[in-house]
Amino acid sequence: MEGTRCNPVLVLFFIFAAIIPSLMAEIAAVDRKLVDKKKNAPCVAYNCIDKCWRCDPHWAKNRKRLADCAKGFGHGTYGGKMGRIYVVNDSSDKDMINPKPGTLRHAVLLAEPLWIIFSGNMNIRLSQELIFTCDKTIDGRGWEVHISGGAGFMLQFIRNIIIHAIHMYDIVEKSGGMIRSETDHVGIRGKSDGDAISVFKSSQIWIDHCSFANSYDGLIDIVAASTNVTISNCHFVKHDKALLFGASAEMPEDKIMKVTIAYNHFGKGLTQRLPAVRYGFVHVVNNDYTQWQSYAIGGGDGATIISQGNRFIAPDGACKEVTNRRQVPQSVWRKWTWRSEGDLLLNGAYFRESGNPHWAKTYKGPALIPAQPASTVAQLTKSVGAYLGCKEGVPC
Ligand SMILES: *[C@@H]1O[C@H](CO)[C@@H](O)[C@H](O)[C@H]1NC(C)=O
Ligand SMILES: *[C@@H]1O[C@H](CO)[C@@H](O)[C@H](O)[C@H]1NC(C)=O
Repeated sequence: MEGTRCNPVLVLFFIFAAIIPSLMAEIAAVDRKLVDKKKNAPCVAYNCIDKCWRCDPHWAKNRKRLADCAKGFGHGTYGGKMGRIYVVNDSSDKDMINPKPGTLRHAVLLAEPLWIIFSGNMNIRLSQELIFTCDKTIDGRGWEVHISGGAGFMLQFIRNIIIHAIHMYDIVEKSGGMIRSETDHVGIRGKSDGDAISVFKSSQIWIDHCSFANSYDGLIDIVAASTNVTISNCHFVKHDKALLFGASAEMPEDKIMKVTIAYNHFGKGLTQRLPAVRYGFVHVVNNDYTQWQSYAIGGGDGATIISQGNRFIAPDGACKEVTNRRQVPQSVWRKWTWRSEGDLLLNGAYFRESGNPHWAKTYKGPALIPAQPASTVAQLTKSVGAYLGCKEGVPC
């Protein structure tokens, strides 16, 4: 009996000896979790473009890494990668002929490649259209940069531009007048249309992680034989005629136009032209369409539209047809190649296909972004727009 009697002190000792290390281990684990969250937070990048740069906690030191991330037809657009960093520290836009150093207008006019960043949160109200020169990146990461209440961006006769993490809304028409368009050229400009971004006879353009809303004319126009453009990870809301690719039936030069629309969200308050296309080739891949009224994708004049892995949710009360062909007789449009492959069509949405179902066999252009299953679109487009909240030292 004696031998089996328990010594209460010994029992307590054994209990503590068993509990304390596991408690310590738990505290350490919680600690590690906190540290991990700061230093090594789980990366939120889901699509192939975001995966290219967002997991780097040192994105702020390695901003130019973004230049290697363009996919789709805008592939190879490197913007201001070869140039210095220019910090915009002045949100004013007063002098159209000799813009003040430190303003966005001064930066985009310099005849050298530039990687343009901002010194803080800023709202820039452009007095007249902002005329770009070649080889520029506008990189709003780290701040909230808003272009609103004034004119928009004009990309004309240029190449190699990246526009990243910028909010653009409430863009209005402006009267024009004497405006500098290059370091050594000032000219008279007519009225600007009131597009947020206008791409005119330009190529190698990549617009990524921007937020667009409510502008006087279009949100993005791509016209006059422009090509090699990617629009990705953007958020579009509150606008009637949003994206126009090819503005005129009298411009068959737009046949060279190639545009990729990938991982965007077309959301609240949109009506039509998401996009509308004339002549060119548009690859619409893994986008989320949750609102339109008249139609989502439309156009004419022999445009080619390849729609893959998108989610189209027809809103209640909207026209359920995704596509629109401007009252052209079927005998004409049946030859246009408009294909829907792996799209998720919900709430009555339907895509009227036409043209060659075997287009891929004869396709000779550059590689297309491979479509992911449409069921993953909500995740792929989870962080669209310019509200990235990037902080130095943590993945963005
Ligand atoms: C703003 O930037 C310009 C151009 O780089 C520079 O000349 C100027 O000194 C800067 N101003 C301030 C207050 O940092
Ligand atoms: C567009 O990109 C293709 C390569 O994909 C290239 O061959 C062509 O020259 C580019 N066009 C322009 C106008 O930059």
